[in-house]
Amino acid sequence: MGVRKNRRDGILITFEGVEGSGKTTQLRRLATLLRQDGYRVVETREPGGTSVAERIREILLSAPGKPTMTEPMTAACEAHLILAARSQHVTHVIEPALRAGSIVLCDRFSDSTFAYQGYGRGLDLGMLQDMNRLATGGLEPDLTLLFEIPVATGLARRRKFAMEQNRLDREAHEFHEKVRRGFLALASGAPKRIKKIDGLPHPETVAVEVASAVRAFLTKARTQRLKTVMHAARARPGRSR
Ligand SMILES: Nc1ncnc2c1ncn2[C@@H]1O[C@H](COP(=O)(O)OP(=O)(O)OP(=O)(O)O)[C@@H](O)[C@H]1O
Ligand SMILES: [Mg+2]
Repeated sequence: MGVRKNRRDGILITFEGVEGSGKTTQLRRLATLLRQDGYRVVETREPGGTSVAERIREILLSAPGKPTMTEPMTAACEAHLILAARSQHVTHVIEPALRAGSIVLCDRFSDSTFAYQGYGRGLDLGMLQDMNRLATGGLEPDLTLLFEIPVATGLARRRKFAMEQNRLDREAHEFHEKVRRGFLALASGAPKRIKKIDGLPHPETVAVEVASAVRAFLTKARTQRLKTVMHAARARPGRSR
């Protein structure tokens, strides 16, 4: 479970992976499935998710050379903007939804910061973790789905489906390779939280794997919470059973 003590029954599931790996496609499908199962679901994305954070997103993704953005963005500026947006998002969207007991599905979160700004741009990981804690107040995802595909496949998908090209699409292939390796290193360091999903098969097939991973997680989370509640009831003073 995440580290925040004041959250109630909500669950935070984050979707991570390189460009075009299928995060948004699978998030939407999972939201539909979970709603059919009777869960209250909040779909959101980073950077963004609030009016202030969406304004920051526009700056982050706009291509250099546009009249509004003439100079290149430094790695430090990029990191600060992303984390500024996250602070707004966590405070005004994610935390309230978790307190209300929703399942929050978030398209990119802290792991993207470590993969892109840390492994990709070369900023110090320890420093990014500290900055990230300031933005999240210590909130961590309960489950992270990492969609795994080769960089070239993801970028080709984005071009093939004529998705709007952004600042990151223009980065060198090697940058995206570093990011991909970064995600894999993060997954090795947190194997319980980060579940790798093969993003190459047909979306239907990927969705089956996602559903099975999430349902297994939810079953386990329910059992654990039940145990905690029973343990607390037993420990309450003045009650014999
Ligand atoms: N498993 C798949 N096989 C082939 N094409 C896919 C698959 N999943 C998604 N796509 C298509 O690839 C494109 C990128 O998918 P999607 O937008 O879900 O990726 P993403 O990880 O959210 O990308 P981004 O990082 O750019 O936000 C979309 O046009 C989508 O329809
Ligand atoms: Mg997307």
